[in-house]
Amino acid sequence: MRLINLALTAALSLTALTAAATDSQPRKDTFTAGSGTFLLNDEPFVVKAAELHYPRIPRPYWEHRIKMCKALGMNTVCLYVFWNTHESEPGVFDFEGQNDLAEFIRLCQKNDMKVILRPGPYVCAEWEMGGLPWWLLKDKDIALRENDPRFLDRVKIFEEAVAGQVGDLTADKGGPIIMIQVENEYGSYGEDKTYVANIRDMLRELYPDVTLFQCDWSSNFTLNGLDDLVWTMNFGTGANIDEQFRHLRELRPDSPLMCSEFWSGWFDKWGANHETRPADEMIEGIDEMLSKDISFSLYMTHGGTNWGHWAGANSPGFAPDVTSYDYDAPISESGQATPKYHALRRALAKYMPKGQKQAKVPAAIPTTTIRPFTLTEVAPIFANLPEPVKSADILTMEELNQGFGSLLYRTTLPAIDESSLLTVDEPHDYAQIFINGQYIGTLDRRNGDRQIRIPAVNRGDTLDILVEAMGRINFGRAIKDFKGITDRVELTIDRDGRPFTCDLKGWQIYPLPDLYEFYTSLTYQPLADNPADTTGRSPRGVYRGTFTIDRPADTFLDFGTWGKGLVYVNGHPMGRIWEIGPQQTLYMPGCWLKKGQNEILVFDILGPHDPLVQGRKTPELDKLLVARPLTHREEGDTLDLTGLAPILEGTFAPSNGWQEIELGQPFTGRYLALEALNAHDGGDRAAISEFYLLDQNGQRLSREPWTIYYADSEEVDRKNCSGDKIFDLQESTYWRTVKGNPFPHTIVIDLGATRTITAIQYLPRMEAEAPQSIRDFRVYLSDEPIKK
Ligand code: GLA
Repeated sequence: MRLINLALTAALSLTALTAAATDSQPRKDTFTAGSGTFLLNDEPFVVKAAELHYPRIPRPYWEHRIKMCKALGMNTVCLYVFWNTHESEPGVFDFEGQNDLAEFIRLCQKNDMKVILRPGPYVCAEWEMGGLPWWLLKDKDIALRENDPRFLDRVKIFEEAVAGQVGDLTADKGGPIIMIQVENEYGSYGEDKTYVANIRDMLRELYPDVTLFQCDWSSNFTLNGLDDLVWTMNFGTGANIDEQFRHLRELRPDSPLMCSEFWSGWFDKWGANHETRPADEMIEGIDEMLSKDISFSLYMTHGGTNWGHWAGANSPGFAPDVTSYDYDAPISESGQATPKYHALRRALAKYMPKGQKQAKVPAAIPTTTIRPFTLTEVAPIFANLPEPVKSADILTMEELNQGFGSLLYRTTLPAIDESSLLTVDEPHDYAQIFINGQYIGTLDRRNGDRQIRIPAVNRGDTLDILVEAMGRINFGRAIKDFKGITDRVELTIDRDGRPFTCDLKGWQIYPLPDLYEFYTSLTYQPLADNPADTTGRSPRGVYRGTFTIDRPADTFLDFGTWGKGLVYVNGHPMGRIWEIGPQQTLYMPGCWLKKGQNEILVFDILGPHDPLVQGRKTPELDKLLVARPLTHREEGDTLDLTGLAPILEGTFAPSNGWQEIELGQPFTGRYLALEALNAHDGGDRAAISEFYLLDQNGQRLSREPWTIYYADSEEVDRKNCSGDKIFDLQESTYWRTVKGNPFPHTIVIDLGATRTITAIQYLPRMEAEAPQSIRDFRVYLSDEPIKK
């Protein structure tokens, strides 16, 4: 009997043990796309996601930012995985510290937030090369985001490494990850569904029980949409929401609806106005979506910072992004609640699940000032050149196995007894030219600069080209963005009226990598031994100094007296600075400062006017100091279209969405003028979001070589509505004329070369009723520059 009892007790305790183990095991969830709604454990679930990027937030502040999102009333965090921060060299992975993706996701779960994972491989996100590692470009011919095995094999290795970190954090295994995104907006890059299917298959194998989805724009999602994936739309505040989902509803009437990127604001570029978007438009949009049970992710809810060299650049053209990724988001770059935050929180209060209240807003992180201090030492760059690489031909930065930073290209010149034309093909991205150490001028890729006149030179004179790389392009076909000088350098002289060009050879190339260890290895001298030049600038070089603080707290380091370069504090890469603005201060998180002495390094490739820094309590993100106008019309210019016959006259429809109008026959020319005669709303302004031309085969012409030759009126005072916005590949930005300037409004595109065209495609603004949309118009095409 006793024996039996014992056995029973043992059996019971075994059951108890098993039950305890089950209880302590995380709850497993199902998350699926049901009919008209997402289903979490078979119950309708509206995703209210906050987009946050862990590499853009100092790790000690991760949980603070997640709690800020939770307190808004969000139920999910949506995040990209940034390949290039995790795999700095092929096969060398880092998932620690700032890169501890799994820990970030666990913190989301701890705060009762679901997670949407967007592991690329391409992410865009205004991040260096859209998240792709630069070393892919060591193979010059690699096809990125295509079915090239050289690309796909690397993607597979990366995705497996990510799954190794987060594979057990999916909802079906008790983790918070409810959905995983396949690629990113592929429709605005290519139409190769087999490539997208390859990425889908990789992810499906790694995460067999997770709902996979694709995001894109409403205008092009069918280009890459796969039948077995959930489709979601990306669009910005102010957009006509019903219109954005119209096509999806037609194709899949039962699909759950989700705006996977609802852009709360926008990103800033060097040399352009600071971007903001009105809070009320964001809130109206969210209110409309939630009242219709439409899921959303607010991109960005908190943008954070592009530390170090991680800011990307946009194209067509070259428009490098600033260091701050504040994005005019509800939570500021430094994690403060903005008025937009409080307004949004009020709006989201009414959509809390029954019986639940929004969490408390966490206390703000304290801020402080730092008294002005001077950096007292400098390592002038020309006195600190490392061993050069010798090469007959120009080599790119990638060919030199360098990812980031600058290069100095040096060669000797032949004797030329007159001024000649130096062509740098192409300078990526900011090239300063020197002869025998004397500064001659700058070629700035943002302006398409490639040529500069140099004075007469003697045989053996030294030509130096100091090229600083900015972020690699993160959007469009131009992501294959080599740095340094990409091809060749030539000199052209005039011999008896005929140009005579010679290819410069025999280079010594000095690597100046953006590495803290490189900067600290230089030889520093007291600043006092290095007086400023006649322009008032101290030498180009790395500046070093210290500052002391009693109580570390967040601050904004002011670089208003500096030129252009990169900053490190206590070894942390803080980001790029550039005197042209609009960003003038760098966010300095208190968690990376120390009580007592702190070290600061600034590599200034122009040289500062005064090597002075101070910490401010608030950021300066809105001080543009550019010498060049942002417009495309010289004072007094008026376009003269007389003598040109229109190749097309017509009327656009008053609605949102793309419109295509055929020319009836092919026409050939280089300068295309679109003359808007009036607007549907009867006002005096015209606006265009995007514009394409079709060739003889009905294909869109590449807009890479396009520039704006003329625009009669452009709203650039505080806004970025210049003419080039019609081909910036962004449907939410637009060209708009200035209020009070009467019709007609004309914009002229230089197509870069003579082209044959058969149709135009026009996209008005995406807001309801397509504000300022053009009614009657004429199109002209000329081979010669049109007189102005
Ligand atoms: C797109 C991309 C994002 C980001 C935004 C603009 O939607 O998917 O990564 O680049 O544009 O901020």
